[in-house]
Amino acid sequence: MTAEIPTDPAKLAEAFRLFNQVSEELSTAYGALERQVVALTAELAAANAETARLREQAERNARLTAMGEMAAQLAHQLRTPLAAALLYAGNLENPELAETSRISIAQKTVGRLKHLERLIQDMLLFARGEVLGREAFAVNDLLHELAHTFEPLALARRVDFALTPAPEDLGLTGNRKAIAGALTNLLENALQSVAVGGGGRVNLGVTATDERLAFSIRDNGRGMPPDVVARLFEPFYTTRTEGTGLGLAIARGVARAHGGGIDVESTPGVGTEFVLTVSRGSDGAAPKESD
Ligand SMILES: Nc1ncnc2c1ncn2[C@@H]1O[C@H](COP(=O)(O)OP(=O)(O)OP(=O)(O)O)[C@@H](O)[C@H]1O
Ligand SMILES: [Mg+2]
Repeated sequence: MTAEIPTDPAKLAEAFRLFNQVSEELSTAYGALERQVVALTAELAAANAETARLREQAERNARLTAMGEMAAQLAHQLRTPLAAALLYAGNLENPELAETSRISIAQKTVGRLKHLERLIQDMLLFARGEVLGREAFAVNDLLHELAHTFEPLALARRVDFALTPAPEDLGLTGNRKAIAGALTNLLENALQSVAVGGGGRVNLGVTATDERLAFSIRDNGRGMPPDVVARLFEPFYTTRTEGTGLGLAIARGVARAHGGGIDVESTPGVGTEFVLTVSRGSDGAAPKESD
C-alpha cells in the first residue's frame, strides 16, 4: 500500500505543518525522555554507592561479630579443661590421699593440661592459617606413613582400614607435614564415626589429574544430617567432648593454602566421604630416591 501524496498546495502546506508539529512534539518528548534517563542514572549510581557502603558496613559488622564470638568460644574452650586441671591439682594437696589415688589424680591433671596444650597449638595453627615450606615428595610415601600411624588405631577398634595406593611415580609439591596433619584429622574423624568392634570401615585413596590431587577418606559410619554438614568447618564446632572443633577448620585452611579445598558428602546412617584436593604444585613428578 502506498501513501497518497497531495498535489493541492493548500493540502501540501497542511501536511507540512502537521509534519513539523509532530516532529516538534517528538523532539520535545525525546528531550524529556533523555532528561529522565539522566536523572534515573544518577539515582541508580547513588543507590549503588549506598548499597556498597551498606554492604561494607555489614561485612565489617559480621567480621566484628565473628571475632567476638570466637573470643567468647575461645575463653569457654580454655576454661573447661583449665577448671578441671585446677580441681584435680587441688585434690593433690590432701595429705590423707592414698598413693594410688595421687597417681591417678596426677595423671588426670596432666591429661587435662595436655588437652589444653593441644587446643592452644591448634588455635595457633588456625590463627596463623599459613603453610610454610614446600617440598617435592612421593604421594605414596605420604600415604604409607599415614597408614602406618592409622592402622594400629583402626585395629584396636576392630575397624577395617583399606589404603588404595597411588601410582608409583605420582608426586606432589607442598607442605608434607601440613597435608599429613589435615589427612590425619580426616582419618581420625572417620574412625570416630564408625562402629567399634566389627563392621566399621575406613578407606583412604587418591586420584590425580594433570593439575590436581584428590585425597578421598570414606567411612561407613554414622553420617551427618545437613545441619551438621553446614557447620562442619566453623572453628570450634564439635559434637565430641574431647574435640577442639578446629580439626576441619585447619584442614580446609591447609587445602586452600595448596590451591584446593575440601568437599563432603554424607548420608546419616550410611557414611561420609571427605575429598581433600590440592593443586599439584610446580613439580608434578615424584622426587627420585637420590633427591
Ligand atoms: N567422618 C565423619 N562422620 C561423622 N561426623 C563427622 C565426621 N567428620 C567430622 N564429623 C563431625 O564434625 C565435627 C567437627 O570435626 P572437627 O574435626 O573439626 O573437630 P573434632 O573432630 O570434633 O575435634 P578435633 O578434630 O579438634 O579433635 C565432629 O565433632 C563431628 O561431629
Ligand atoms: Mg577432628
